[in-house]
Amino acid sequence: MIKEIEIVRPDDWHLHLRDKDLLPFTVNETAKSFARAIIMPNLVPPITRLIDAENYKHRIMKALKPNLSFIPLMTLYLTEETDPEEVKQGYKSGQISAVKLYPAGATTNSQSGVRNYEKIKPVLEIMAEVGCPLCIHGEVTDSNIDIFDREKVFIDTVLDKIRTDNPALKVIMEHITTKEAVDYIFAENENLAATVTTHHLSLNRNDLLSGGIRPHFYCLPVVKREVHRLALLKAAISGSPKFFLGTDSAPHLDHDKESSCGCAGCFTAPNTLEILAHIFEEQKALNKLELFTSISGAKFYGKNINTDKIRIVKKDEPTLFPKKINTPSGEITIFSPNFETKWQVQV
Ligand code: NCD
Ligand code: ZN
Repeated sequence: MIKEIEIVRPDDWHLHLRDKDLLPFTVNETAKSFARAIIMPNLVPPITRLIDAENYKHRIMKALKPNLSFIPLMTLYLTEETDPEEVKQGYKSGQISAVKLYPAGATTNSQSGVRNYEKIKPVLEIMAEVGCPLCIHGEVTDSNIDIFDREKVFIDTVLDKIRTDNPALKVIMEHITTKEAVDYIFAENENLAATVTTHHLSLNRNDLLSGGIRPHFYCLPVVKREVHRLALLKAAISGSPKFFLGTDSAPHLDHDKESSCGCAGCFTAPNTLEILAHIFEEQKALNKLELFTSISGAKFYGKNINTDKIRIVKKDEPTLFPKKINTPSGEITIFSPNFETKWQVQV
């Protein structure tokens, strides 16, 4: 039985670090084991300009412990007013690594996102020209569409058209949750990829809703039926370069989640790799973990592969993680699935 693996240091291709007094917690939890992360721009106000991204990056680096190294890969939040020239300049200079498209109203702080897709055409054209990837929150926001169907409807009515209009555009469908998304991504060309989260590999909608509602399992897109979780699992362990880890670690204060209208997001950064090692081992696919966490994402984004390695060791007893972190603003619960892991990252 394998007791230890060594893999190239992972990257997180979808991460929420938040801001202000949360940064020292979020940044260092990720930097413990990840080399780089694509930083989501959905702050209040959102990161819509290069100057905002520069300032945010500076705050992130200030929060990083001196003994850790970490590279935040910044993104711009796409609005109907985004200037194509600014995107071009930001991507060419390396200030940003991607642009993030939120359909307006789809998720946390997405109100400044896109309503009219005609208005973002010039930006998408320039992105395709310079090779800047587009990260997409792939859900429609129409209240007449059932929340469990919003990803599939987005693929059929929005995503496919964006890609047909811009064949050279590199697109990442973020945090996919359905078999339909997996099938679509496998079937399409190499300019389309997807991130998969730790929590969507761990949970189905029974975990969220059966026997009581569990606010710390609530995220967007919402977790789906078991058949969909199994499709995601198959994609993640397939070794296909089109599927890679984006944790979507999205901390909210407990009092905001445990409320009559709780926020969406799971805080998975502290124990993601331990949970993934357990899941991949269960699937007899530990040899595919490195591709998923450390290789395929870098290749899709055109970045170098990290040169250092991390070790993940299997112990005899389940690994005990803290239940919460304490921040000056309040407690934040760390994601804990309905299974244990005996794996531990050696730091
Ligand atoms: C994210 C957040 O809280 O910022 N929430 C979530 O449930 N995933 C936003 C997002 O990525 O949808
Ligand atoms: Zn997210």
